[in-house]
Amino acid sequence: MSRGADPSAAGAAADPRVGQAVARLRAGGFGGPFALAVVAGTGLGPLAARIEAPRILPYAEIPHFPVSGVSGHAGQLVAGDLGGRPVLLFQGRAHAYEQGDAAAMRVPLGVLAALGAPPLLLTNAAGSLRHEAGPGRLALITDHLNLSGLNPLIGEHSEARFVPMVDAYDPGLRKSLHGAAAAADLVLHEGVYAWFLGPSFETPAEIRMAGRLGADLVGMSTVPEVILARFFGLRVAALSIVTNYAAGFDGGAPHHAETKRVAAAAAEDVGRLLAVWLASGGPGEG
Ligand code: HPA
Repeated sequence: MSRGADPSAAGAAADPRVGQAVARLRAGGFGGPFALAVVAGTGLGPLAARIEAPRILPYAEIPHFPVSGVSGHAGQLVAGDLGGRPVLLFQGRAHAYEQGDAAAMRVPLGVLAALGAPPLLLTNAAGSLRHEAGPGRLALITDHLNLSGLNPLIGEHSEARFVPMVDAYDPGLRKSLHGAAAAADLVLHEGVYAWFLGPSFETPAEIRMAGRLGADLVGMSTVPEVILARFFGLRVAALSIVTNYAAGFDGGAPHHAETKRVAAAAAEDVGRLLAVWLASGGPGEG
């Protein structure tokens, strides 16, 4: 169930685009309920292979869903079972840097709110500013720095736009994810994620700045989705797959091909973590 700020279902229901997308999902048997929704970041498409009895619906067939042009993002919904629980996987996301639209994921997240508001796990590929959390490691996001100058709620006129952001990264979900990581024998780091708009990677000077501001991780996604998820009243957690050291940090020199390759190699660990988390009831009742 949703909790916290309460614009949730109201915000979603008020948007006719969400209503049309929800109707398409329900007609296709994608109406839920779901114990968990997951957004698969760059290179994490292989997560879909872990889903049992998968059913697929391309974003292109859903009204108002974004079609991402970024390689490593398939652009489809996958519904099925993981860890014995029903899940909905968003295989691919639209990024703010594609069209300059920070609200690119507004309709998909509004749809989730309208479909019973399951907990949401966002995943991404990220650069690391921590020696101990190198390529291939997993890190939970505890908080963020929005360095983009954008916000997905610009243009929203309801009072609900003033979304509280303390504990936006749900402490209960984080705690149960740490428990699942221990049970799965996986090291799970955590830290503050700085959102740079992209699509060019950061300069070493920008990374030095981010480090001084308190960033542990950097990337080009997730933050606008967290803001939207909280706007819709969804409980949200976010998991980074460290694909590289950030530019200039420990010799970091990120490349897209490398981020895709390293993330894909870590998809196995992410799948195991999620299966253990779901099987142990970690996300709570969906
Ligand atoms: N910077 C921004 N986005 C990223 C990085 C990075 O170093 N690695 C993966 N995605």
